[in-house]
Amino acid sequence: MSDAPDIYPPSQEFAARAHIGSMAEYEEMYARSVEDNEGFWREQAERIDWFEPFTTVKDVSYASDDVHIRWYTGGKTNACYNALDRHVDAGKGDKTAFIFEPDDPNTQEARHISYAEALRETKTMACVLTNHGVKKGDRVTIYMPMIPEAAYAMLACARIGAVFSVIFGGFSPEAIAGRIRDADSDFVITADQGRRGGKTIALKANVDAALQKTDADGPTVRHVLVVKNTGGNIQWHESRDVWLHDATPEAQTTEASGGCPCAHMDAEDPLFILYTSGSTGTPKGVVHTTGGYCVYTSMTHEYVFDLHEDDVFWCTADVGWITGHSYIVFGPLINGCTQVFFEGIPTFPDAGRFWDVVDKHGVTIFYTAPTAIRALMAQGDALVTRASRASLRLLGTVGEPINPEAWRWYHETVGDGRCPIVDTWWQTETGGIMLTPLPGAVPQKPGSATLPFFGIQPQVLEAASGEVLDGPTEGILVIADSWPSQARTVYGNHERFVNTYFTAYEGKYFTGDGCRRDEDGYYWITGRVDDVINVSGHRMGTAEVESALVLHEAVAEAAVVGIPHDIKGQSIYAYVSLGEGYTPNEDLRAELRQHVRTVIGPIATPEFLQFAIAGLPKTRSGKIMRRILRKIATNEHDALGDTSTLADAEVVDKLITGRR
Ligand code: PRX
Repeated sequence: MSDAPDIYPPSQEFAARAHIGSMAEYEEMYARSVEDNEGFWREQAERIDWFEPFTTVKDVSYASDDVHIRWYTGGKTNACYNALDRHVDAGKGDKTAFIFEPDDPNTQEARHISYAEALRETKTMACVLTNHGVKKGDRVTIYMPMIPEAAYAMLACARIGAVFSVIFGGFSPEAIAGRIRDADSDFVITADQGRRGGKTIALKANVDAALQKTDADGPTVRHVLVVKNTGGNIQWHESRDVWLHDATPEAQTTEASGGCPCAHMDAEDPLFILYTSGSTGTPKGVVHTTGGYCVYTSMTHEYVFDLHEDDVFWCTADVGWITGHSYIVFGPLINGCTQVFFEGIPTFPDAGRFWDVVDKHGVTIFYTAPTAIRALMAQGDALVTRASRASLRLLGTVGEPINPEAWRWYHETVGDGRCPIVDTWWQTETGGIMLTPLPGAVPQKPGSATLPFFGIQPQVLEAASGEVLDGPTEGILVIADSWPSQARTVYGNHERFVNTYFTAYEGKYFTGDGCRRDEDGYYWITGRVDDVINVSGHRMGTAEVESALVLHEAVAEAAVVGIPHDIKGQSIYAYVSLGEGYTPNEDLRAELRQHVRTVIGPIATPEFLQFAIAGLPKTRSGKIMRRILRKIATNEHDALGDTSTLADAEVVDKLITGRR
């Protein structure tokens, strides 16, 4: 595609109907959002309903000795009220909130769920929680398949002011136990089993196994609320486990007598904790609060996806990730939109599923990850073109850089050259989209997340000096000032929050990403600059995988690096040195890979595992030289760089000969 254009301006037709329909309009509104930041965010706060008005718009300090981030202080609101009650109160109860598209279209029916029904179900679940002693501020762990009850569970917690912590259904019992302990959570919501790609996932069994671990130091979890989904066989713990359907009649009585109204939450009361990987240590419980998160997710959802009343939105993420929190549950519901809620995977029953569902439900806006696009692109065009896709008008991507080839395929083949693409850069910590084209205004360049959203002030810094670089340049991406949906802290460890994000460059939010800015001021994310790997759009800390490996009795030491992967973006390459008495062989290799799967979950499985027979390359002070390991893994032996600090140069030669 050498004659393909480098820049794709919005079509006149799209721009004519868009909320922001020209570059001039974007620039004017952006300038205002920065110059009168507080005034801008004061106005935007009106998009949600407040029980009591706030007194201060913004109270923020990025100074490393006093990091605090507060928005809309004094205001009282409720995220569930904004997502559900207010639409029903306004007479929109009959509008479809979710079109539930089940895993297997041949054996299960799709279902339309109205705002009124979603509210009813959420209220019931909220009353079940309160009837079982869950109170405002308590932490509730949610480990669910992609069924609407997952959203009801999150909304029910928000309704009564409980802080939810959703754990992606692909994580292992070990990972669940760690997160339950860290959040000091005494209530779990799960389902008997999940369905994905025609297989069943043993969710309740995983929770049981996790609770065996947490119970080892004395029982902490009081109740496990179980949604009947597949009806499959599960173990039952009489005093602890509660079926949702058994608890429902009592909950309905509670509700009929006025129980479980929306709690009046302070704007800065925590809404949820979400665990995410970093460079070091165990995953961090990133804390998001109520008011600013609702304002920012709904605003970005409206502008970035150019949302109109008649749109059918579909974000293919799982609610276990931030994308699902912000752009399945909160943003879209606060905006009162209709969306597809998808239980399945892109390749079941076959790799044309996405496009079949687009036709089936008349999807107008489609938001997915580059890894899915690349995987489907590899299956050929026929599976795409068998669907008409005529309803589509806007496409989006999130989670990792998209290569221009995949971008163009998405644009030409999926979107028939008609749909703008919003490449949205953001993070678990940012709560909402930060860099993105506004589709009716900003010309798109394949592979670039383009320009900042309103109120966002990106800067590029020189890595070593921290100097702010102007014009076309490359360096470290930081954000110079706060925005309403920014994470407020790490649960139970504010110091870790400060150290991770605010000490690298004083006075700035450190994103962990590198980027380039071109002559048009467009941003191009170049990937993580820390020890975080992005596998299929999922963040994985190298330290986490290493800790999992060394838990195995055969492993003396482990080092993990990310290497490029055609479909997944990156994959995991692990180097392992074995303890005394263990010899490298294929069985052990398979066992170690399986071991990581068991300890963390399938997404952390090393693609390659190499035995480091002579040990790992280290500096004389004992630091593992990852830079060298990365080069060996990618077969760039001639570009190892400076090896003069190596304690033992022979180690490197042995690794090169033993490369996988
Ligand atoms: O490296 C960036 C990459 O994903 C990281 C954030 O991961 P997570 O917190 O799991 O959130 C993913 C979904 C919001 C970022 O630091 N990333 C995310 N979106 C993009 C991206 N890299 C390039 N382009 C993107 N559009």
